[in-house]
Amino acid sequence: MSTPLGDPALTWHEVASRDQLDPDFPVGVDVNGRKLGLFLLGDEVHALEDVCPHAYALLSQGFQEDGVIECPLHAARFDIASGKCLAEIGQRDLQCFPVRVLEGRVQVQIPIVEIAA
Ligand code: FES
Repeated sequence: MSTPLGDPALTWHEVASRDQLDPDFPVGVDVNGRKLGLFLLGDEVHALEDVCPHAYALLSQGFQEDGVIECPLHAARFDIASGKCLAEIGQRDLQCFPVRVLEGRVQVQIPIVEIAA
């Protein structure tokens, strides 16, 4: 279904229709200026940061296969279920976001980032 873990204090943001998701083609969305990639693995929806940590490329425009997303620019690879970086060029693991599907709508939570004064 989805990964429903979330923070009860945070808002769920509706970002897509479940019908839009395809196991071979991730979907990129923007939530409050934050770019996320939505990935379908079996029946589970995963939401990960979409900008590759290596340089600027959107992972949602990469190549998804066998639970792995490959960056379209220099081929960094990340495990979709965990966000784990699988190739050194990717530099670090990706942040994963809580996601759920309610009545056919995909919702995600974005942690609040405090900006220092
Ligand atoms: S921008 Fe993704 S590997 Fe270089």
